[in-house]
Amino acid sequence: MKTSGARQEQPTVLLLGGTGRTGRLVLSQLLGRGVNVRAIVRSADRLPEGVSADPGLTVVEADLLSLSDEYLQGLVQECGAVISCLGHNTTTLKDIYGSPRDLVTRAATRICRAIEAVQPAEPVKYILMSSVSVNKPAGRDARRGRLEKAVVAMLRGVVPPAKDNQRAADFLCRGIGTANPFVEWVAVRPDSLLDGPVTEYFLHDSLVSSLFRPDSTNRANVAHFMCELVQNPRLWGEWRGGLPVVINAASGAN
Ligand SMILES: NC(=O)c1ccc[n+]([C@@H]2O[C@H](COP(=O)([O-])OP(=O)(O)OC[C@H]3O[C@@H](n4cnc5c(N)ncnc54)[C@H](OP(=O)(O)O)[C@@H]3O)[C@@H](O)[C@H]2O)c1
Repeated sequence: MKTSGARQEQPTVLLLGGTGRTGRLVLSQLLGRGVNVRAIVRSADRLPEGVSADPGLTVVEADLLSLSDEYLQGLVQECGAVISCLGHNTTTLKDIYGSPRDLVTRAATRICRAIEAVQPAEPVKYILMSSVSVNKPAGRDARRGRLEKAVVAMLRGVVPPAKDNQRAADFLCRGIGTANPFVEWVAVRPDSLLDGPVTEYFLHDSLVSSLFRPDSTNRANVAHFMCELVQNPRLWGEWRGGLPVVINAASGAN
């Protein structure tokens, strides 16, 4: 573990996927807010420029799924929150269909079980970057049309990342639930992701647009909402155990 010396008085967030297109924005925004971050990355070379020297950042350079349970338990010690921006590389078919097909689910399961093993005095927040292709369990979302349902089912059947995202959310809903003394969670569902600055955005309890007429969400807005969930207890109380949909205010469905 490479440490640049942490700011003791600040909360610590364990960040997964901090080299990704959204994760790197989360990392920069957290550090900018004075939050200490432990980031597990496969290659520190892919971290955003300039962050490595930040005294609030601790980098663990490793393949997350290869770390032992005991090591993960050490990493979650004294963390107030975990943010997962993990996602499958979708550049080539080999990336999409290659191993591990269940990266997001396995990471959520292993980290949450590590938190439970540590038994923190206060529940740790697990904040998952999910997707509008993910449904709440037991039909508790706004209903999709028949054709849209068929497309979503087909996607989950043939595209491993889509299935993985749904399974990770299902694990939080059913495997952790809303009465766990050690882990609380929010699964954040952006629509089509765009680059760009933090702008005004709206939060919805349920799906608001069809996959055939998608809305847009700036990655920076996803990062901003995740950081707010870490730091704003009122916001956390509002969305704890939920799957909020994040949509740019400038987008259609508001
Ligand atoms: N594209 C969309 O419109 C959209 C919309 C809504 C939701 N989402 C979901 O949002 C999530 C994040 O999206 P994104 O575009 O920000 O992701 P991204 O840029 O592809 O970043 C993915 C992150 O996951 C890491 N990763 C990939 N494979 C790994 C492995 N085997 N072991 C450890 N780490 C691994 C990558 O690390 P390396 O840098 O080492 O590769 C990177 O940090 C995804 O789950 C995606 O499905 C996407």
